[in-house]
Amino acid sequence: MTSTASQPPAGARADWTIDQDWTGYSHAEHQVWTTLYERQAALLPGRACDAFLQGLDALDLHRGGIPDFARINEELQRLTGWSVVAVPGLVPDEVFFEHLANRRFPAGRFIRQANQLDYLQEPDVFHDVFGHVPMLTDPLFAENMQAYGAGGMRAVNLGRLANLARLYWYTIEFGLVQTPQGLRIYGAGIVSSRTETIFALEDPSPNRLAFDAERVMRTPYRIDDFQQTYFVIPSMQGLLDETLQDFGPLYERLGDLPDLPLDVIAPGETVLTRGTQDYAMAGGRLALA
Ligand SMILES: [Fe+2]
Repeated sequence: MTSTASQPPAGARADWTIDQDWTGYSHAEHQVWTTLYERQAALLPGRACDAFLQGLDALDLHRGGIPDFARINEELQRLTGWSVVAVPGLVPDEVFFEHLANRRFPAGRFIRQANQLDYLQEPDVFHDVFGHVPMLTDPLFAENMQAYGAGGMRAVNLGRLANLARLYWYTIEFGLVQTPQGLRIYGAGIVSSRTETIFALEDPSPNRLAFDAERVMRTPYRIDDFQQTYFVIPSMQGLLDETLQDFGPLYERLGDLPDLPLDVIAPGETVLTRGTQDYAMAGGRLALA
């Protein structure tokens, strides 16, 4: 998500944006997008929430390989006033939050190679655009992302960024939502990953707990493997209400409270699934490598 560098790299503007240079993509790069798109599009009905699936349709992300940001921005602007801007990679926290607070989503423009379809450490254009942008067509989620950007700038000033980043991680990246039809995924890190789509929803290993902002802010996360615990929001409105709250009193309560272990279920929590943790105990991805 973020970089520790303080100056934009050569060729980037002061706000770290660059041109997407859509005509510069090769046929092979467009083909990687199409392969990934078709795989996920076949997997997601009945697993992703309706807002995501409707956004995917509205933006027509299947047309012509890697989407031209200028084209999808016309539709995104019309729907929720958001736009996608290209950045050279990770950007500093304050740059990231400034973009979000102004309804601009910073996206990488490079795409993974054909031999990296399932796992990538840095977010590429497939993760950023396929994973994040469909939800930005939903008015409630669009407002949530803007509120998160504004909250991010406050958290930097209050020294609470580590806590707020967990909110982003367990909702915008790896969130699940309760719907009348059952649990659905909406987090970008899940919907853009074939393996985590299945794991997050259907595997018996992880815990699935009702979302609670204070609890989430005390929970570290895995950046290199599937999560041991997923948090379930009641609705997009429920998530927005949480993000719009004044986090000041919450940060005060957190004080110096210790982090919670990744797999713990605390007394009084609403448990949707008590996970076996078999996957993590077997060593996770490292054991499979
Ligand atoms: Fe992401």
